[in-house]
Amino acid sequence: MRNIVLIGFMGTGKSTVGKRLAQSLAWDFVDTDYEIGEVTSLSVSEIFRRHGETRFRSEESIVVARLSQQERLVIATGGGTVLNPLNWNALAQNGTVIALHASLETILARIGNKNDRPLLKAPREAIEKLWSERQECYSQADFIVDTSQKSVDEVVKEILIQLERMTKNEFSEVAKD
Ligand code: S3P
Repeated sequence: MRNIVLIGFMGTGKSTVGKRLAQSLAWDFVDTDYEIGEVTSLSVSEIFRRHGETRFRSEESIVVARLSQQERLVIATGGGTVLNPLNWNALAQNGTVIALHASLETILARIGNKNDRPLLKAPREAIEKLWSERQECYSQADFIVDTSQKSVDEVVKEILIQLERMTKNEFSEVAKD
C-alpha cells in the first residue's frame, strides 16, 4: 500500500488535514517540517536564520528520501518540498499525491500573523508572486482539493471519496487488460 502525500502552499491545511486523514485510515502521520526539526534539533525558522534556505532544502530532501521508502504513511510536506523534482519523483513513485488548494486571502487569514514561516515575512506582493508561481507545480498532483471554505472533516471526506474513485478506476483498468 502506497503513501498519501499532501502538497500545497503554506496554510492550505496539509498538517491538520493529514493528521485527521491518517486517523480515519489508521495510518501513521508524518510531517516533513517536524521530521527536519527532529533530525537537526532546530525549528524551521532557526535553520533558515542560522544556516539559510539551502541547508533547509538539503535536510528536507534527506527526510523525503527516507519517508518515500516507507508505506502507509500520510505525509504532510512543506509548501516548497515538491518544487524540487527529485523530491517530487521520490514521493510520487511511492504515493498518491494530493494537492490542497486555498485562495491567498484564506491563507493570509489563517497564517498571516503567525511568526514561524520565514517565507511569509515578506511584502504581500512577494507572497502573492510565490503563491502564483507554485500553482502550476501543485496542479500536477493526482487530484486537487480546495480547502478554502471547508471544514477539516469535509476536506478529509472529499479526499476519501476521491481515493476510492481512484482505486475503482485502477481496478477497472486492470479488468480491461
Ligand atoms: C515552506 C513551507 C513551510 C516550511 C518552510 C518553507 C515553503 O511548510 O517547509 O517554511 O517553501 O513554502 P508549511 O507549508 O507546512 O508551512
